[in-house]
Amino acid sequence: MNIIKQTDSSLLALGNMDKKSTFEMTSQSKTKVSRVFSGVQPTGNIHLGNYLGALKQFVDLQDGNDCIYCIVDLHAITLPKDPGELRSSILDVAALYLAVGIDPKKSIVFVQSDVAGHAELSWILMCNSYTGELSRMTQFKDKSRGNESAPTGLFAYPVLMAADILLYDSDVVPVGSDQKQHIELTRDIAIRINNKYGEDTFVVPDGRFLKDGARVMALDDPTAKMSKSSENPHSLISLLDDEAKIRKSIMRATTDSDGEIRFDPEAKPGVSNLLTIYAALSGKTVADAEHEWSGRGYGDFKKAIVEVTIDALDPIQRRYAQIRSSDELVATLRNGAERAGAIAEKVMLRVKDRFGLGSAGAMIESGM
Ligand code: TYM
Repeated sequence: MNIIKQTDSSLLALGNMDKKSTFEMTSQSKTKVSRVFSGVQPTGNIHLGNYLGALKQFVDLQDGNDCIYCIVDLHAITLPKDPGELRSSILDVAALYLAVGIDPKKSIVFVQSDVAGHAELSWILMCNSYTGELSRMTQFKDKSRGNESAPTGLFAYPVLMAADILLYDSDVVPVGSDQKQHIELTRDIAIRINNKYGEDTFVVPDGRFLKDGARVMALDDPTAKMSKSSENPHSLISLLDDEAKIRKSIMRATTDSDGEIRFDPEAKPGVSNLLTIYAALSGKTVADAEHEWSGRGYGDFKKAIVEVTIDALDPIQRRYAQIRSSDELVATLRNGAERAGAIAEKVMLRVKDRFGLGSAGAMIESGM
């Protein structure tokens, strides 16, 4: 499948992410692609980083593209999870997908473990990946640091992610920049297998990263990314936070002492992060936001961020409350699983044929 790109001048060359495999764009960019795939872990606390780095792209891409959005529950159990909490987090994320504007009439929305092909393909890919390349994954190093032994699932996590993507012949994968290394690994595995088993075994996907929002930083420590696993609740804004929590987290966000509102992620990581959040939520560019706030004080700036955040999250929270309590939600996921399963089945047949796996090929071989 070929990617048809329709871009305006806001499609930018990648600075330090400058690789043929990725493209970076502002939120105004339009890209037409045949197949889009992405996923979010059902681990609760979907935050502004997830929204600005990934979910906003999901919504933007669904017009004119063939989009598949997954709730990756198999990834969530790489670290122990309470089954009851997992069940409810799956529905929380599904409801949030729809609440931010993913339309199940336009896009497929489903739960990863409802389609068996993810785990099946993951094994095949695992047999074509190396412990050396998996050991270099930053996410694995971070999560296993200090432990002599780590869960095998944590180690194999990126291979399952590669299976998710390759199972649907995906052309484009919209994600935050923390997933860049995993996308590169997916491409490496796909190319390796194509070289060995035939060029048309897998579509080699591209990552898609927004210029503003690909890496939203923690509010309490702007040198670290905003993360679901943070212990400090004020390090992030959850999409379901109430007004008081939003106000408190933003008003106490770390800035610096020089008092100037300027975008300079190196020298002023806190203020730059706030400019990114403000710009993305108010539909402005960072340059415009910087111009608007130049010469003004941090206190007023933070109050304005509180307002744009409440304005952006309020309609999402209203829709979420309706959708989460509706019987339609599970029906939507069942329907999504059927549609995703039909695509996955065809790809699995092709892959198994290339590898010589299963009895179907053996029957043909023996002339039956
Ligand atoms: P997860 O659940 O950690 O995050 C979901 C999405 O949110 C993005 N993201 C961020 N973007 C900007 N700033 C941040 N601080 C920030 N934190 C998270 C992530 O990049 C991601 O796009 N491995 C994936 C889930 C996954 C997946 C896939 C994604 C599994 N299979 C196949 C794409 C395709 C993950 O852990 O996402």
